[in-house]
Amino acid sequence: EKGGWDSFMDKEIHEDPAAVQRTLLGRFDKNGDVALDEVRIDEHDFKVIDKIIVIACGTAAYAGMVAKYAIEHWVRIPVEVELAHEFRYRDPILTPRTLVVAISQSGETMDTLMALRHAREQGSKVLAICNTQGASIPRESDAVLYTHAGPEVAVASTKAFVAQITAAYLLGLYLAQVKGAMFRDEIRHILDSLKDMPRKIQWVLDTQTKTIHKAAERMLNAQSFLFLGRHVGYPVALEGALKLKEIAYTFTEGFAAGELKHGPIALVDEGEPVVFIVPPERGRDVLHAKVLSGIEEVKARGAFIIAVAEKGDKDVERYADVVFWRPACPTLMSPLVDVVPLQLFAMDMAKLKGYDVDKPRNLAKSVTVE
Ligand code: BG6
Repeated sequence: EKGGWDSFMDKEIHEDPAAVQRTLLGRFDKNGDVALDEVRIDEHDFKVIDKIIVIACGTAAYAGMVAKYAIEHWVRIPVEVELAHEFRYRDPILTPRTLVVAISQSGETMDTLMALRHAREQGSKVLAICNTQGASIPRESDAVLYTHAGPEVAVASTKAFVAQITAAYLLGLYLAQVKGAMFRDEIRHILDSLKDMPRKIQWVLDTQTKTIHKAAERMLNAQSFLFLGRHVGYPVALEGALKLKEIAYTFTEGFAAGELKHGPIALVDEGEPVVFIVPPERGRDVLHAKVLSGIEEVKARGAFIIAVAEKGDKDVERYADVVFWRPACPTLMSPLVDVVPLQLFAMDMAKLKGYDVDKPRNLAKSVTVE
């Protein structure tokens, strides 16, 4: 069953490229436009949508946070992301023009199910992004966009995360298409980058595992980690922090890198491990410079810096103690690769500590109580 891997988690991380690829499969018409035929919400209903609310828990919520950056940029409608258990009990503002997107690997998470029922009672349409055919969440939704990551057995979610981002991106590009929010060429261009991501993820798996393993060995006695990222790197930081909590039982916190100076920097002293998600260098944009200045700040206080950064990034090379490299890609695509070394890092840490990476203590694969 594990196909030669010694854990499901190992196997499933190595299926990240395939999870993205399979989720893209069959989602285009003969002209190459996004065609979400199976979704069965008609084009008119999509055209009038003026707000999206993503509801989800855990890793699925972080996938939603990534999608927020992309969909708002592409479609120019507001996207809110809310933990399902918070959403349900705060009397959210919902209208027939609000599209609620419920993201769930299992399709059975009770918090998410209750939230979607509430949204439908208020007259909003609910679209599920789900990895499990015929589960409760897709059954009770108006529409479903399945992620085709294949069954995920390890409790800590890995390949489902990249598949969820892929599906949410397809939804965003489809919306941009039907609303005429972008030129066809622009959409095409983004789709080309998206289709190229499985190859880039594979490059990380092929070339970075040794570095990651060595880093895990070196960090084995670390008591805590900070994870920092900006823009789409922020949810990636939160997800990287969650993976280490879940399976290596290490105390971690994820923060928006810009927030560092507003509090978290007080936690940094000699030897504190800090993981930075560094945005792509392309155009040396402002994001890159801002994250870099965060690195300098913590470096000056003696932190041990682990960076996820674009291959050839000289600034990062200068400051970081360890770098997990990513191949060049557009910023909005970077979460699909950047999460991969963090998944591997958490798994290696947990294995080195002798823990069962597939069945972490106190956790269940799907939580069917509220
Ligand atoms: C948690 C799982 O309890 O539920 C997480 O341990 C998962 O891994 C979260 O991200 C949400 O699950 P689902 O199935 O709704 O995506």
